[in-house]
Amino acid sequence: MAANCSSPRPCVHQAATVLANDQLAERTWRLRLQCPEVAALAQPGQFFMVRLPGRTDPLLGRPFALYDTVLDAGGALIGLEIVHLVVGKVTTLLSGLKPGDPVEIWGPLGTCFPEVPAHVKRVTLVAGGIGQTPFLAYTRELLGRRGFGGAAPHKVVDKVELVYGARRQSLLAGLDAFVEAGAIELPCTEDGSLGLKGRVTDGLDTCDKPEWIVACGPDPMLHAVARWARERSVPCHVSLETPMACGLGICFSCVVKVASGEQASGWDYQRVCIEGPTFDAASLVELNQ
Ligand SMILES: Cc1cc2nc3c(=O)[nH]c(=O)nc-3n(C[C@H](O)[C@H](O)[C@H](O)COP(=O)(O)OP(=O)(O)OC[C@H]3O[C@@H](n4cnc5c(N)ncnc54)[C@H](O)[C@@H]3O)c2cc1C
Ligand code: FES
Repeated sequence: MAANCSSPRPCVHQAATVLANDQLAERTWRLRLQCPEVAALAQPGQFFMVRLPGRTDPLLGRPFALYDTVLDAGGALIGLEIVHLVVGKVTTLLSGLKPGDPVEIWGPLGTCFPEVPAHVKRVTLVAGGIGQTPFLAYTRELLGRRGFGGAAPHKVVDKVELVYGARRQSLLAGLDAFVEAGAIELPCTEDGSLGLKGRVTDGLDTCDKPEWIVACGPDPMLHAVARWARERSVPCHVSLETPMACGLGICFSCVVKVASGEQASGWDYQRVCIEGPTFDAASLVELNQ
């Protein structure tokens, strides 16, 4: 399944062109980029650095997960999509882009999602806030609907559930796309405006016991999901969205403490941009305190 996820992983830098930029939800935009070389390498779980060319402010790129790959009418791979929440300088600028505008992109970066053990037939994806973005391509991959990174489509599991929480309905983005990709959705909103009223852990309480969880979202949510999984002995991986400067393993701005038998302290630093962004929740020191 993971065609190019071994090390060293290929990464290309490309001048991309905006094909479309659509608002999906409150402060949430889907940017479709023409960049066939980067898209050809991308696998679910990986991310890209994106920056606006010809500007020194902001100078650095920003990391965004692979949301989906883009095929033309004949099925040829022509680009990829990212979905982002407007929070600051780059995301505000990205939300104003028009078709034909240039964007710099380099990647794919980081590891793809870990291999699902053969006995697992149902994967439960848990997303909070903008944390659903790595999961659309992953749903397609797990259900064998699309191949990534040059691999042919290959069905990995029978069922993908998406437990997707936000404060209110207007912040939930891409629900139709997940249904079209084959996911069984359980939206949860804190104000009850759509789906279950409550948080994603309340949603998990209503599911059959998960076999394998992958979660992405804000740190307090990841803490809660990791605890929920630990208490029920369910394997759980988390995809981190730690702020990053280089994305290439050089600056160490993205490190997290990971359990290590080789250190007297019992842990060592790992870079989210190289060893991550997905980690076994049981190995992350701060998720287990
Ligand atoms: C591997 C990875 C994948 C990501 N995928 C996505 C994605 O698919 N969609 C998406 O919307 N976002 C994603 N993010 C987060 C995204 O990179 C940040 O939201 C983005 O860098 C903000 O840039 P900005 O210039 O708009 O904000 P800035 O002007 O740089 O910052 C604005 C505010 O947001 C805070 N902030 C910046 N980055 C983060 C962060 N990572 N976590 C929490 N607070 C932050 C800053 O501290 C500041 O308060 C991902 C992050 C990582 C590491
Ligand atoms: S962002 Fe520079 S080492 Fe990870």
